[in-house]
Amino acid sequence: MNYSDFYKESIENPEGFWKKQADGIDWFTKPQTTLSKDANDYPLWFKDGELNACYLALDKHINDGHGDEFALIYDSPVTQTIKKFTFTEVRTEVAKLAGGLLSLGLKKGDTAVIYMPMIPQAAFAMLACARIGVTHSVVFGGFAPHELAIRIDDSKPKAIITASSGIEIDRLIAYKPLVDEAIALAEHKPDNVVIFNRKLGARVPFKKYDIDYDALVYGSEEADCVPVNATHPLYILYTSGTTGKPKGIVRDTGGHAAALKFSMQYIYGVKEGEVFWAASDIGWAVGHSYTIYGPLFNRNTSIIFEGKPVRTPDASTFWRIISEHKVSVMFTAPTAIRAIKKEDPNGEFIKQYDLSSLRTQFLAGERCDVATLEWYREHIPIPVIDHWWQTESGWPMIANMMGVEYLPIKPGSSGKPVSGYDIRIFGENGEELGPNEEGYVVIKLPLPPGTMLDIWNDSERFKAGYLTKFPGYYFSGDGGFIDNDGYVFITGRVDDVINVAGHRLSTAEMEEIVASHSSVAECAVIGINDALKGQIPLALVVIKSGDDMESFQLEHEIVHLVREKIGAVASLRNVIIMQRLPKTRSGKILRKLMRSIVDGDSYQIPSTIDDEAIVEELKTVLSEYKIGAFK
Ligand code: COA
Ligand code: AMP
Repeated sequence: MNYSDFYKESIENPEGFWKKQADGIDWFTKPQTTLSKDANDYPLWFKDGELNACYLALDKHINDGHGDEFALIYDSPVTQTIKKFTFTEVRTEVAKLAGGLLSLGLKKGDTAVIYMPMIPQAAFAMLACARIGVTHSVVFGGFAPHELAIRIDDSKPKAIITASSGIEIDRLIAYKPLVDEAIALAEHKPDNVVIFNRKLGARVPFKKYDIDYDALVYGSEEADCVPVNATHPLYILYTSGTTGKPKGIVRDTGGHAAALKFSMQYIYGVKEGEVFWAASDIGWAVGHSYTIYGPLFNRNTSIIFEGKPVRTPDASTFWRIISEHKVSVMFTAPTAIRAIKKEDPNGEFIKQYDLSSLRTQFLAGERCDVATLEWYREHIPIPVIDHWWQTESGWPMIANMMGVEYLPIKPGSSGKPVSGYDIRIFGENGEELGPNEEGYVVIKLPLPPGTMLDIWNDSERFKAGYLTKFPGYYFSGDGGFIDNDGYVFITGRVDDVINVAGHRLSTAEMEEIVASHSSVAECAVIGINDALKGQIPLALVVIKSGDDMESFQLEHEIVHLVREKIGAVASLRNVIIMQRLPKTRSGKILRKLMRSIVDGDSYQIPSTIDDEAIVEELKTVLSEYKIGAFK
């Protein structure tokens, strides 16, 4: 198949193109309308169709005679467990859990929060919600109670489903006390907390609202799949924006199913029955789309991995899993490969495993540096595909579509636009820029199926954040350029969102927390380059006059505060004290200038700067602290 023609068809005739894809999935009521628009002129796909995501993930395959094939493999180096589940086994457990949730009073239209480590029960919980039309909101287990509480208040769950503990490299994380604390902090109080007790020794304090997961599943009847409308919210997934408040990205059911099935076949080039592994936590979009829904819609065996690329127990883990479970296609973040490369630079572990099953390696979640791509290709000579997407899109927008045509790779580029995404580069005033000119990455509406439907409880923010800056176009928040051959190069965010080890975080949110410290008069948090994690945050603070707190004490307290409020994933380690921050004459903090200085990039001092001398002051302080390019 030819990429150019295939892509062109999707842009010139979106309705015809996506109707064909929708015809390829099972509906309870086939949609009569393929594409319509909501009040914001934003696309609605298949709006009068009815289906069920859990049916497509499980029941359909059992009905088609594949019930004995493996749906999930749980591989947990941290507990030294490998367990395989067939589609029939997963369906039985999910249907009973769904029955249990019904017995607790949950019903179609309600919401449930899932706060779990990477264990099969997390997948069961997501699928059980989908089965009965309950909108799930998975919260990454690395987020602290304060973050969980924000999400509880926004999504107003009837129940929270959790587990007794998660496991990090060096410690057990007891989840139940964190959930109890979040409920105490939140204004909204869920009726019940369903806890899967892993019996690993974590403290599980009992509360009146507690329900034991095993008892609930054991004592419940299997529930059937409930048909939902195509635009029914399958899930809400909170992601960081440019303010302190995370935004709940709403995913539809019908467009999502059609798009994910399409992506498995045409982007990832994976056939039904093969083993597909996306090594991401279910708390992120990758985990939703490509650890759970995408592979299951495509009747693949998906791996639920509880571990890290290194230190669980070492840098061989990925290769062991690929060879042991015969993974065909894998997906991870470049940071994971950088971590492996650091520990095993010559790829000695790679040589110990038979990786012949592995056809393609996909990388996303952050910019893929050329050195990482080259290192991988040198040690494992297969196509290594950088591809670009966001929580908002839910599936790739730029890629090398491996199921269509394998195009030559240009390191540094995430490839060409995926079917349905008409990608353009705009200047500040909405003028379209030519080849190789860097600007805002925007996408002409209509977006294809499966992309965000709305922001939960905040359509105004949705409009303001994505649709208003360039009317008729979706504003991605990323910068980039398109070269003469149509390859897109993403150069980074144009806002205050940063990517720390593939985790999307908001510096604005961190700033609010740093500013809440009693000694801080003023502060800025910026994302700076990091060889392992891609980016890490750096806090620059001005302390209140007369406050004589020692700098190391202040750093310790601020680092602790951010860990306590956001979670350790924020990875804030450096806090530097300044006499003042660089600002414009109107008082705007010049974050971009600071970022360029810290990273050692070329920069121009804006003519609006309040006092140019601050640039030299900043460099002196950075040299003292040995930060960034001043190490
Ligand atoms: N629950 C509790 N704490 C968690 C957690 C979780 N689910 N996930 C991470 N943390 C903690 C870690 O223990 C660590 O705490 P510490 O500062 O006390 O050591 C901190 O958050 C930072 O964790 P992490 O970002 O995982 O860094 P790391 O140094 O432990 O590991 C990598 C570095 C690169 C190996 C790791 O970040 C990684 O595997 N990244 C890939 C990410 C990925 O796949 N993203 C998916 C998007 S596609
Ligand atoms: P998330 O919503 O967590 O998936 O983060 C999305 C953001 O990650 C994007 O807006 C980009 O800034 C960044 N990102 C994801 N994939 C890539 C990629 N392949 N290249 C460059 N940046 C990427």
